[in-house]
Amino acid sequence: MAKKNFLKKGVFITFEGPEGSGKSTHARLLFEFLKKRGLDCIFTREPGGTLIGDRIREILLERKNVCMNSACELFLFEASRAQIVDEVIMPALEKGRIVVCDRFYDATVAYQGFGAGFDIDLIKSLNAFATMSLKPDLTILLDIGPEAGLKRSLCKGKHDRMESKSLDFHRKVRHGYLKLAKDEPKRIKVFKSHKTINEIQNDIRKTVLGCLSKI
Ligand code: TMP
Repeated sequence: MAKKNFLKKGVFITFEGPEGSGKSTHARLLFEFLKKRGLDCIFTREPGGTLIGDRIREILLERKNVCMNSACELFLFEASRAQIVDEVIMPALEKGRIVVCDRFYDATVAYQGFGAGFDIDLIKSLNAFATMSLKPDLTILLDIGPEAGLKRSLCKGKHDRMESKSLDFHRKVRHGYLKLAKDEPKRIKVFKSHKTINEIQNDIRKTVLGCLSKI
C-alpha cells in the first residue's frame, strides 16, 4: 500500500494519550525546543491539520453530533488522516523535516478499537490504508487515569463529543494505549503524568534527542 515514490528522509514523532494527559502541551513544548535548536520541524495534529481535516474535526467533536454512528466516526478519523498524510506529513518527511504530530493512528486503535469495540485488526488495516503504511519513528504516550484526565480537560471548557463519552469508555481507551505500549516498547515510550510539566518535558526531550541521534 506504500506510495512507490515516497522516500522518507525526515523523522516522524507522534504524541498520544487519554483526555487531559497533557500531550498537546508537551507536543508544542517539544516542537519549540527542536526549533530553537535550529532543527527543521513542523507541528501538526489529528484530527485536522489541513483545511479538509479541520472541517472533519469540527464534525467529529461538535456535541450536537451525539447521534453519530460509530462506523461513521471511525471513517471520519481515517478520512482526516488520509488527507494529512498525503498533504502535510509525507511531503515534509520527504524534505527531511522532523514532523511532530499531536495524535496519529494509535488513537484510532485506542479509541475506536479498545474504546468503541471495533476489531483491532480491522482498525490496523484501515490505518495502513489511510497512511499508505507510514509509521511513526517514535511515539510519546502521556499516561493519566480517566477520572483525573477528564477533570483536567473540563478546566479548559465544556467537554466535546468525544470527551463526553462514558467513564468506562475512557478507561478502555487508557487500557488500549498501555497495551499498545507494551506491544511496541521500542517505538512507544510512556510518561506518567504525576511529575511536573518541566520534569516530564525534560524526560521527553532526552528520549527524543536519543532517538534523533540514532537515525
Ligand atoms: P484531541 O483531544 O487530541 O484534540 O483529539 C480529539 C479527540 O478525538 C480526542 O477525544 C481523541 C479523539 N480521537 C479518536 O477518537 N480517534 C482518533 O483516531 C483520533 C486521532 C482522535
